[in-house]
Amino acid sequence: MTGKNRELKTVLITGGGSGIGFESAKLLRETGLYRVVLLGKERGKLEEAAEQLGGISDAVGFYVCDLRETSQIRPTVEKIAVNHQGIYALVNNAGVYPFGGVATTTEQSWDETFAVNLKAPFLLIQAVVAAMKKDPRTAKHGGRIVNVSSTAGILPNHFTLAYSVSKAALNHLTRTLAKELGPDNITVNCICPGIVRTGMHEAHHRNTTELEEFYTKRGSAFPLGRVGEPRDIAGAIRFFISEEASWVTGDVFVADGGRLLL
Ligand SMILES: NC(=O)c1ccc[n+]([C@@H]2O[C@H](COP(=O)([O-])OP(=O)(O)OC[C@H]3O[C@@H](n4cnc5c(N)ncnc54)[C@H](OP(=O)(O)O)[C@@H]3O)[C@@H](O)[C@H]2O)c1
Repeated sequence: MTGKNRELKTVLITGGGSGIGFESAKLLRETGLYRVVLLGKERGKLEEAAEQLGGISDAVGFYVCDLRETSQIRPTVEKIAVNHQGIYALVNNAGVYPFGGVATTTEQSWDETFAVNLKAPFLLIQAVVAAMKKDPRTAKHGGRIVNVSSTAGILPNHFTLAYSVSKAALNHLTRTLAKELGPDNITVNCICPGIVRTGMHEAHHRNTTELEEFYTKRGSAFPLGRVGEPRDIAGAIRFFISEEASWVTGDVFVADGGRLLL
């Protein structure tokens, strides 16, 4: 490890192989301040993402972990803390977005949504906070937790019952833990994106034409006239991780092109 890389602060990003998570990793690497460790369940995606970030190195790593398998979470976090000089920040970004209302949400879909969108973030925080508290640098530099929620957690989306409820709970988890972890110098914030152009929407549209029509129609109705790009959210994530945000905690920050004003 080079002297320069020894100074990097480690940021663990779940769902770092695609969309908002990957773009955040890119932006954080561009600052030259952070080492990024990506976590996801698809090895191929993580390998490709790491490649695009310059390849596996002191500054870029990845771990395969299916967040529905709760027993994998703590050992994976412990391994990351040992292999990458502790953990300065956790970005709980992985999420699933199934459609379904009261009659059509199956018990399995409900459980899977809550496992990935709420239980895994909690277990990750639990394991990361244990590592942060053991690390003498946390008292000095602080620790950062950023949860990627959704505007659906504030104003429910149509026909995404389990998703909207899981994200509302994630917002409250944020505020609750911000209170508890403040005295340990660990900030906990969450970001609620509106509609952002990522793979998450692809599964819900039959083809690219239909998907583009969806983005154009929805985006043109927002005050800022467009849907978001992953970079619009990555910028907010970078802020919450930065030193400049050291006195900000418990925030539920909306980045949605003005959607919630409608
Ligand atoms: N795009 C939007 O319009 C929008 C709006 C509001 C909020 N959000 C939130 O933004 C976050 C990121 O989503 P995105 O839009 O960037 O979509 P995305 O590209 O589909 O990213 C979702 C990520 O979650 C990971 N993931 C899903 N299930 C997992 C599991 N069981 N174990 C480990 N990782 C898992 C995926 O990794 P694998 O591919 O390896 O499974 C993927 O990298 C989500 O929390 C989402 O709810 C998105």
